[in-house]
Amino acid sequence: MRAATIRDGKIVVAEHPDPEPGAGQVLVRVHAAGLNGADQAQLLGLYPPPPGSGVPDDIPGLELAGEVAATGPGVTRFAVGDPVMALVAGAGQAELAVVPERQLMPVPEALDSPHDGAFPEVFSTAYDALFHQVKLRTGEHLLVHGAAGGVGTAAVQLAVALGARVTATVRDPDARSAVAALGANVIAPEECAPGGSYDVILELVGGPNIPTDLRSLAVGGRIVVIGVGGGFAAELNLIELLYRRATIAGTNLRTRSPEEKALLARQIERYVLPNVSAGRLRVPLAAAYPLDQVADAYAHFAGGGKIGKIALTF
Ligand SMILES: NC(=O)c1ccc[n+]([C@@H]2O[C@H](COP(=O)([O-])OP(=O)(O)OC[C@H]3O[C@@H](n4cnc5c(N)ncnc54)[C@H](OP(=O)(O)O)[C@@H]3O)[C@@H](O)[C@H]2O)c1
Repeated sequence: MRAATIRDGKIVVAEHPDPEPGAGQVLVRVHAAGLNGADQAQLLGLYPPPPGSGVPDDIPGLELAGEVAATGPGVTRFAVGDPVMALVAGAGQAELAVVPERQLMPVPEALDSPHDGAFPEVFSTAYDALFHQVKLRTGEHLLVHGAAGGVGTAAVQLAVALGARVTATVRDPDARSAVAALGANVIAPEECAPGGSYDVILELVGGPNIPTDLRSLAVGGRIVVIGVGGGFAAELNLIELLYRRATIAGTNLRTRSPEEKALLARQIERYVLPNVSAGRLRVPLAAAYPLDQVADAYAHFAGGGKIGKIALTF
């Protein structure tokens, strides 16, 4: 099979042996696979697959969609030909991928290719962050920092579907109307000032925002840190933290066990996919590139200024 492959710090297309499904595993013929910040970090040698995951460290890709090509012993839920998608620990950007059956989700009819391949990572991340880590509730006010990308556009839509009030920062003026069309009140990052009104802040940019985030929280407010591309470190005024009875959470999906990923997949099926089928959630796709143009796809992602996701097609 051919796969996006890391060779000497560059992303290229290379041949690999076809993987074979073991017990409880499914071989997926991949049609589309989304790009994520983790792939960029892996390319730079900063974010290898978790130890023990069994995933090759030279094929990136945390999400995929395609059809079942073969099943290993003990697989009961999916059969050859079924359309499936999944969050994986790596090696998703390949013509063939082996996935534990319980990590697979069915692809709803409303989600066509290549949008399906760009769905699992960002919607799972946003769902888990908002509803598990900081328990966003209907009527609460959410601020999403860095909202024009994959996780941000997913989070805005999930929160709007819940009935939360959503404010979103978008630094590219050309991207603001698209995020507003998802239901957010969009502002420039520099318009964020300490104000005391946000119940939840989804931090996709990182350290430099944290002091203002803390001073912008309502009493009982929660910050959940997902992305740190803007910087790892932040100085905290603990008086602000305790005065607001605030919580700062951080989370990560890649290092979770297959069992935890399976549990999240069941929750996405139960609570998120019906909203996709009802047309309330969609995957904004900035561009799709055939595998042969994988270097262009990675350069587009790294260049920023996009709305939503970038996908590879196979
Ligand atoms: N913890 C986890 O499990 C997890 C899971 C998924 C993603 N992440 C991380 O979360 C972050 C967001 O993911 P994503 O998929 O949404 O990435 P993305 O598609 O690249 O979007 C990132 C967004 O943040 C904006 N941004 C980046 N740096 C900024 C800065 N310094 N100031 C203001 N805006 C900035 C970008 O704007 P421009 O387009 O103008 O650059 C873009 O709109 C990434 O860092 C990613 O690695 C973490």
